[in-house]
Amino acid sequence: MEDFEFYTPTKVIFGKNAELQIGREIASRGYKKVLVHFGGTYLCETGEIDKIHRSLEDAGLSYVDLGGVVPNPRLSLAKEGVDLCKKEGVDFILGVGGGSAIDSSKAIAYGLVNDFPLEDLFLGKEKTDKIAPIGCITTIAATGSETSNSTVVTIETQDQGILKRSYNHDCARPLFAAMNPELTYTLPKYQIGCGIADIMMHTLERYFIPDQKNRMTDEIAEGLLRTVIDSGRMAMKRSDDYDAMSELMWCGSLSHNNLTGLGREKDFSVHKLGHALSARFDCAHGATLASVWGAWAWYVWERDIARFAHYAKQVWGIERDEISAAKEGIERTIAYFEEIGMPTSISGLGIGVLEDETLKELALDATM
Ligand code: NZQ
Ligand code: ZN
Repeated sequence: MEDFEFYTPTKVIFGKNAELQIGREIASRGYKKVLVHFGGTYLCETGEIDKIHRSLEDAGLSYVDLGGVVPNPRLSLAKEGVDLCKKEGVDFILGVGGGSAIDSSKAIAYGLVNDFPLEDLFLGKEKTDKIAPIGCITTIAATGSETSNSTVVTIETQDQGILKRSYNHDCARPLFAAMNPELTYTLPKYQIGCGIADIMMHTLERYFIPDQKNRMTDEIAEGLLRTVIDSGRMAMKRSDDYDAMSELMWCGSLSHNNLTGLGREKDFSVHKLGHALSARFDCAHGATLASVWGAWAWYVWERDIARFAHYAKQVWGIERDEISAAKEGIERTIAYFEEIGMPTSISGLGIGVLEDETLKELALDATM
């Protein structure tokens, strides 16, 4: 077994009404004023935001809201959030929503306690291990940002156009994550599909790597993938299937808290291409991943046929000679993405057929 470190300090509060516990969670840690940071309308329409406010009030906390987070969250809003927190004397940041709202919250938390321009952190010019305290309420099974060390933001730069960049540090793992699968019932099918693709990809990008020691890591990854595939099918039929949504939600966190990558490197090349596509065309994250995975797999599979055959056997139950099993495993994965409504080519993202020049620029961005 290869050496590893495993650090997941986030307290997970999982189940029905989990989000109602957040007031107590924050107050018990001694904080006084909360920024509630979220995206669009569904939280207001479902009355969920009122319940969250009540939980804070009941715990004796004051709060200020900042909505308006968009998918592929903009750093400009996070900077507004930093100013608001300073003005209002906020000492705790609560992200409510998906990866976008949680990452925007993490960016605000970095900005609140560091003096450098926030973009410098994401453009690789600064590093820090300081962040203001954050917690979150997850409303979609997807990125795993609720327990991950990543913060991914979209930056509108003067000289390089729009870039999507991340900063990864363990300090950004939230103090707690409230995860109530019932909150995901309002998700559109497309977003459920995007979430499934992202969860699978966080696992696959740690699975198809040169160093494959640590059998337990493999077994966890394979079990997680089988669970996501089955639960994903159920969730696509009925978004109010509690069991299916619960499994997806937990898999979302486990797929990106590094449990499925212990003792090995990760190869996030599909993610890097996906980020380049999202920056340029503002596409949903999970959809970009599904759109390029097939092409990636056909490009690399012959370099490790045994690994692809092993994946086919463990995840899809395919037992044949290595070459045909490896190929069928890739085909079944692509067919599954189609089944859950995900694009399986870049043109399937609805952005037309890209010119060679554009593809080169995307490749350059992905490898910067
Ligand atoms: O805009 P709001 O109102 O929040 O609506 C969102 C958004 O339109 C909606 N939504 C979320 N929960 C809902 C809901 N609609 C109805 N009912 C609900 N319960 O879904 C849309 C997508 O939300 P978003 O937060 O953008 O989705 P996701 O969770 O997939 O996050 C994507 C972002 O996270 C980044 C991605 O790059 C992208 O920017 N990632 C973050 C990672 C991390 N921090 O660890 C890792 C990932 O690889 C990823 O890069
Ligand atoms: Zn992802």
